[in-house]
Amino acid sequence: MRKKPHYISVCSQKGGVGKSTFTVLAASMLHYHMGRRVLVADCDYPQWSVHEQRQRELGLVDGSERYKLMLLRQYKATGRKIWPVVHCRLPEALDETERFLAGQKEEYDYVLFDLPGATAVKGVLPLVASLERVFVPVKADKMVVESSVVFARLVAESFVPNPQCATAGVHLFWTMIDRRERTPLYDQYEEAFARFGLPVMRTHVPARSRFSRELQPGSGPVSRSTLFPADAAFAAECCIAELCEEICTLCETR
Ligand SMILES: Nc1ncnc2c1ncn2[C@@H]1O[C@H](COP(=O)(O)OP(=O)(O)OP(=O)(O)O)[C@@H](O)[C@H]1O
Ligand SMILES: [Mg+2]
Repeated sequence: MRKKPHYISVCSQKGGVGKSTFTVLAASMLHYHMGRRVLVADCDYPQWSVHEQRQRELGLVDGSERYKLMLLRQYKATGRKIWPVVHCRLPEALDETERFLAGQKEEYDYVLFDLPGATAVKGVLPLVASLERVFVPVKADKMVVESSVVFARLVAESFVPNPQCATAGVHLFWTMIDRRERTPLYDQYEEAFARFGLPVMRTHVPARSRFSRELQPGSGPVSRSTLFPADAAFAAECCIAELCEEICTLCETR
């Protein structure tokens, strides 16, 4: 019998905190660099930002001998084709994912679901309840923290203990950290998270403009791409590999 992949999501009820960015960065790091086979289910209709990014990048590759060669080299070195994206509306997300997986020869290790940034959207909460783990990006902004805590508590208190939900854990992680910010602020927030029993990941992601940089025509290091892992310097500075290692440890340790 086939093993079921880990169904996970970088999600929250807050828009613009990096859900799609981390979905892409983590998918590429896990799939091209860390030996895990990844499927992304883009359920954020109508923006479908991961699917759209993939289409833009394929268009770019079409006109670039350099990127064609990079893809070929990557395939030869890793044996990996590019990770697939299923794009669908939320209510169909699980069926579409299962249909896709059933049609594949290979077993997949992870399915990353990119979800809308609002729990009011019909279908978000039932989908979250069917995920194994959710990772909530939080930045040190009162409104973001409050909204993230409301979402994380809902998952931790209503889904995790419920045997009808698949959710085994919800994990907050700091992102968009400004070097100038003082640590006491983070300590105070973390004390509040601890009071609610919400675990915070070790990985702290800094704020960097390179998170917004997609594949460019011509040369330049790779930042956020659906076709290649982030280059080593960016991945190290922005803790992408560290975040993925932590995700794997949480999902794969029994
Ligand atoms: N650590 C970071 N430092 C700086 N910019 C970041 C960081 N993480 C994400 N960003 C930027 O923040 C913006 C919003 O990111 P993204 O679109 O991934 O958010 P989202 O949560 O998916 O939003 P939505 O709710 O609209 O789907 C993007 O421009 C992205 O590049
Ligand atoms: Mg998004």
